[in-house]
Amino acid sequence: MIFPKTVEIIEVGPRDGLQNEPLFIPTEQKKELIAKLTKVGFKRIETTAFVHPKWVPQMADAEEIAAFCKGLNYIALTPNMKALERAIQANVPQIAVFIGASSAFNKKNINKTTDESLRECEAIFEKAKDNGMLIRAYVSMAFSCPYQGEVTFEEVHHVCQRFVELGADEIDIGDTNGHANPKIVYERFARLRDLYPDMTFVGHFHDTRKMALANVIAAMQAGVDKFDSSVGGLGGCPYSPGATGNVATEDLVLMLSEMGIETGVDLDSLKEVAEFAKSLSTR
Ligand code: HMG
Ligand code: MG
Repeated sequence: MIFPKTVEIIEVGPRDGLQNEPLFIPTEQKKELIAKLTKVGFKRIETTAFVHPKWVPQMADAEEIAAFCKGLNYIALTPNMKALERAIQANVPQIAVFIGASSAFNKKNINKTTDESLRECEAIFEKAKDNGMLIRAYVSMAFSCPYQGEVTFEEVHHVCQRFVELGADEIDIGDTNGHANPKIVYERFARLRDLYPDMTFVGHFHDTRKMALANVIAAMQAGVDKFDSSVGGLGGCPYSPGATGNVATEDLVLMLSEMGIETGVDLDSLKEVAEFAKSLSTR
């Protein structure tokens, strides 16, 4: 088996981890979580989302979180032009768009079909680049979907191809409902790497069926060395019924360090942050 020497872990807990929490978490506690994560060694953190507060009330404090993150290398979600305008005002360094390979999911999540969102991305990418922002582009429901069932490779490729043409800095392949398995993960990442050898791909595995770590191993075999994870394993997407959080960061760091793979994260301190993160959850 071939493994990378180092892996970049992008901590998504403050965004993906907290967005699904039913009760509003005070902004000061979110800031404390971000500060603790920075201290244990994360170089990139997904901290908030400029989404509509009626759709995801937990992210209503995006502007305040962005102001707190000034000077950090952080990512904020921007699903539409209005979101991008808010992110520009807030001086966000990296944005993330997210489009479902399944149009049924995309409609539930951001109220547009996949192709409507891809069209809106043209202007979003252009404006973000004009403002010097880096662009992470998620393909959500890249393996299966609770609304449409099977998701084909062609549907995933359709979105990826457009992201490549538009100049995404990295493409993040999301197992949003956590139903992928190592075989399909290996096959999809290997095909994407063959098609786009110069593109950076990231793995984003929800752990609904406890296969996220196995999926990380499979993706590494296909050459992937960047993964998202959520401290304490918190989270899920409000529009992906039944999905649990991303792979827990502390489990991912433990596995990689036991395998001799560098992450730059201090595991003992991280375990304390995981306890803090879990204390914020009311689930
Ligand atoms: P919409 O209702 O279709 O928006 O929402 P609209 O364009 O029709 O506008 C309606 C009103 O909303 C207007 O206001 C707009 O100004 C306002 P009015 O004129 O009526 O007063 N509006 C906004 N306000 C604040 N921020 C905005 C915004 N946009 C419009 N950005 C929208 C479209 C995308 C906003 C909505 O569908 C939304 O917020 N969805 C939330 C989706 C979300 O956050 N999902 C969870 C994150 S995705 C995820 O978890 C998956 C991921 O982890 C990867 C994976 O796991 O695969 C990333
Ligand atoms: Mg997610």
